[in-house]
Amino acid sequence: MADSGPARRAAASLLHWIDARLPLSALWRAQTRGHRVPDNFNVWYLFGSLALAVFVIQYVTGFFLAMHYKPDASLAFDSVEAIRRDVPWGWLLRDVHAAGASAFFAVVYLHMFRGLLYGSYRKPRELVWLLGCALFVTLIAEAFCGYLLPWGQMSYWGAQVIVNLIAAIPWVGPDLALWLRGDYVVGDATLNRFFAFHVIALPLLLIGLIAAHVVALQHVGSNNPEGVDAPHATVPFHPYYTVHDLFGLSVFLCAFAAVVFFAPDFGGLVLEPANFTPADPLRTPAHIAPVWYLTPFYAMLRATTATTLRLWALAALAALLRAAWRRRHAPRRLALLLAGGAVLLAALLLGEAKTWGVAVLGGSIASLFALPWLDRAPQRSMRWRPRWHLLLLLAFVLAFIALAVVGSRPPGAAGHVVAVAATFVYFGFLGLMPWWSRLGRCATPPATLRASPRAGR
Ligand code: HEM
Repeated sequence: MADSGPARRAAASLLHWIDARLPLSALWRAQTRGHRVPDNFNVWYLFGSLALAVFVIQYVTGFFLAMHYKPDASLAFDSVEAIRRDVPWGWLLRDVHAAGASAFFAVVYLHMFRGLLYGSYRKPRELVWLLGCALFVTLIAEAFCGYLLPWGQMSYWGAQVIVNLIAAIPWVGPDLALWLRGDYVVGDATLNRFFAFHVIALPLLLIGLIAAHVVALQHVGSNNPEGVDAPHATVPFHPYYTVHDLFGLSVFLCAFAAVVFFAPDFGGLVLEPANFTPADPLRTPAHIAPVWYLTPFYAMLRATTATTLRLWALAALAALLRAAWRRRHAPRRLALLLAGGAVLLAALLLGEAKTWGVAVLGGSIASLFALPWLDRAPQRSMRWRPRWHLLLLLAFVLAFIALAVVGSRPPGAAGHVVAVAATFVYFGFLGLMPWWSRLGRCATPPATLRASPRAGR
C-alpha cells in the first residue's frame, strides 16, 4: 500500500489543479452525494437510467458500425453482410445495435408507463414529460431512419409506405415527402439523407433532449411511487441509487446478452426475415409491417377506414348532442362548440380515409403531449386513486399491446375489429380523461407522508 502513496498524491494534485480551473469534484459531489432523491423509489425507477445506458450502447456500437457501413444503394446491403462475416467482432456490433433498438423502445415504454402509474407528468413536472415526449418522437425518427440503412426488402418497402403516408399530409405532405426521399422514388439519395439523419442530426438532438430532460427533472425534483412530495423522506443519490441502478443494469445486461447471443433475431421481432433479402424495387413483399415497437401506431392507421370514420363521426355527434343537451356552456361558447363539431363531422364524413389515418397516427402520439393537462384527478399516483382508474390504465395498456400484435400481422377481418376497438379504447382513455379522472373518491395519503417534521433532512 505504501507504493500507492506517490501515485495517489499525484492524482490528488492533478485533481486539485483541475478543480482550480474547472469545478469537477464539486460537480461530481453535487450529482452524487449532494443530489437528494426520494427514499422510496422502486423497480419502476430503473428505466430512466436504463434508457441512458441503452443510448450509450447504441452510440458506441453505431460509431464502430459507421466505420464499415457504406451509405450507397448498390453497396449498403453487402457492407452489412461484410460487417457480420468479415469484420472482427462485427457480428457482435451489428447484433447488439439491432437488439439495442428494440431494447431502447422496451425500456422507454416501461419508463412512460411508470409516468402514467404515478402521475409523474403532473405539475411541476410537465416540462419533464414534454421533453420526454419529444425524445420519444425523435427516437421513432431515429429508428425509422436506421431501419432503411441495411437496404433489405423490409427496409425499402417500409420506408416506401411511411414516406407515402407523409405525402398524404394536407398541403405540406407532397413537398415534405419529396424532400425526405431526395427523389421521386426511394433510392440512393434517400439512403444518403437517412444516413445523415441517423448518424448526425438525430443523435445530436437526442443528446440535447436527454440533457434538457434530466436537468429539468433535477430542477423540480423526482416524483415517487406515492406521488406525494415529502422533502423529509430523501436520501443522497450516491450510494443509495447508484447501487440500485447498477443492480438493475446488471439484470438488464444479462437479459440483453441472452437475446444477443441466443436469439439475435428474436423470432423475427428484432430482425425481420424479409430484411435478409436485398431491397428489390420491383418485388413487393407479401406483407409489409414495421418493427414491433411501431406496430401499435401502424395498426391505428390501418384501422382507419371509411366505416371507422363513420363510427368516429357517430361518436363526435353523440359528444355534440351531449354538450348541447347539458346546456352548461354560455350560449356563445355552445354556438362555437357546435360549429366546430359540425366542421369535424363534415370532415369525418367527407375526408379521405388515408388522410384521416395519418391524422389518427399523429394524434395518437400528439395526445401524449397533452397528458399533464388532461389528468384532473386530485392525486397523482394510482396508489391513492379509485381502483377503477388503475383498471382503465390497464385497459389502455392492453389496447396498446393488442394494437402491437394486430399491426404486425397481415390484414384480416378479426384483426381489423380488434384494431378498431383498441383504437377507440386508446383515444377514449386519453380524450375522456378530463372527465373520468375527476370521478370517484381518492384516498388521503397519511399525514406522515405529506408533512415534513424536519424538512430537508
Ligand atoms: C432517450 C429516452 C429517455 C431517457 C434517456 C430518459 C432518462 C430519464 C432519467 C435518467 C430519469 C430519472 C430517473 C427515473 O426517474 O427513472 C427520467 C425521468 C423521467 N422521464 Fe425520462 N427518459 C427518456 C424518455 C422519456 C420519455 C419518452 C418520457 C415520457 C414521455 C419520459 C418521462 C420522464 C418523466 C415524467 C420522468 C420523471 C419521473 C418521476 O420523477 O417520477 N422520459 N428520464
